[in-house]
Amino acid sequence: MERGSFGTKIGVILATAGSAVGLGNIWRFPYMTGENGGAAFIFIYLICVFILGIPGMIAEFIIGRHSAANAVRAYKNMGGKCWSYVGLMGAITSMIILGFYAVIAGWCLQYLYAALMGNIGGDVTSVQNYFKEFVSNPIEPIVWTITFILITHFVVTKGVKKGIEKVSNILMPTLFVLLLIIVISSCTLPGAIKGIEFLFYPDFSKVTSKVLLDALGQGFFSLSLGTACLCTYASYFSRQTDLLKSSIQIAGIDTIIAIFAGLMIFPAAFSVGVNPDSGPALIFITLPNVFQQAFGSLPVFAYIIGVLFYALLALAALTSTISMHEIGTAFFFEELHISRKKGAWIETGICICIGILCSLSQGAAKINIFGVDFLSCCDFLTSDILLPLGSFLTCILIGRVVDKHVVKDEFTNWGTVSRSFYAIWLFGIRWVCPICIIFVFLHQLHII
Ligand code: PFF
Repeated sequence: MERGSFGTKIGVILATAGSAVGLGNIWRFPYMTGENGGAAFIFIYLICVFILGIPGMIAEFIIGRHSAANAVRAYKNMGGKCWSYVGLMGAITSMIILGFYAVIAGWCLQYLYAALMGNIGGDVTSVQNYFKEFVSNPIEPIVWTITFILITHFVVTKGVKKGIEKVSNILMPTLFVLLLIIVISSCTLPGAIKGIEFLFYPDFSKVTSKVLLDALGQGFFSLSLGTACLCTYASYFSRQTDLLKSSIQIAGIDTIIAIFAGLMIFPAAFSVGVNPDSGPALIFITLPNVFQQAFGSLPVFAYIIGVLFYALLALAALTSTISMHEIGTAFFFEELHISRKKGAWIETGICICIGILCSLSQGAAKINIFGVDFLSCCDFLTSDILLPLGSFLTCILIGRVVDKHVVKDEFTNWGTVSRSFYAIWLFGIRWVCPICIIFVFLHQLHII
């Protein structure tokens, strides 16, 4: 059974950064920043990425690269049979995330289509009604969800080098250019400076325990930590890949894109006097209106920005869904001893079923668990419980179970790189990360 691998160093970075960069950066990060008061949240988020994200990422990389196998086998190789359940949990988590993430990505496709047709806009009430009517339609959002999963399936079945790496090498630079165009347009609007101040002048009096813990939670989601996704991608890394350097580069790209997403949204929102704290609906309800008002004097420009924005969202989501799909595909392919294509179809089938239930739960049918709609339940179960749990157990495995020589060899590429940082990183993995994760976990469960 032939295993794939990434072909180039830049391919490794772009594909893994592609997993990290997604709706978490462009949809979740701006609304979290808006809800949590702006610059102070960003400041804390940066500290979290540094002390929690980068070390956690390296731990997952070590498991993946050392084992060169799918997540379940990789965790088993490192810690024994009972640890294979942590890998399995990661694979299941990624299937659930892919199910609901594809629904939101499907909404982006519909908005892209509507923006292309010039159908987005109008006053606040009509934009709101448009969103409500669309998401509660029983057919359309499902069609977009399935379309999105099938596009993801198509890329993944092309293989690691010809599919994932090739597509990431094209999509990531495209995404960056699109983002830059919208950032420049947004920052040059009259009154945009207030939005820039909101993002960069911290008011630490606004920092509460919620801000602190939301920043930590955002870090997990954004860096794809705790799903075995990084572990699966690392199983295609070569022995020359410098894990510390790569993780810093990937976290750096992820953070820059998130801040750029803020620079794209808030200057435009402040310029037209829209409140930044409109929550998850920010990009589907608030933004179409913001773009229209901000660039209204130049309707062609408003049209182009609208189209570029939703294209950007869909592309960013695609590089992430590819990585989630790959976790399950690699697992079915290697563990069931079937072809990669068949493995990918099983993953696609399961995710389409979850996606349909999530989509219907948005108004077309009453699919609730304890009174909460199915999509929100999936989001809560994964982001608030399974991701922190997966990361916590990964830290325990690498920091306390696996032979220290194996860990040191992987971290330093057999004594050739990053040797002086090993002790600091190990301390982080043994103490700082697990303690921080316990705090996030308790907070997410509303225990503290
Ligand atoms: N990091 C992605 C984002 O920010 O949108 C989300 C994600 C991707 C979560 C892959 C989990 C995963 F396995």
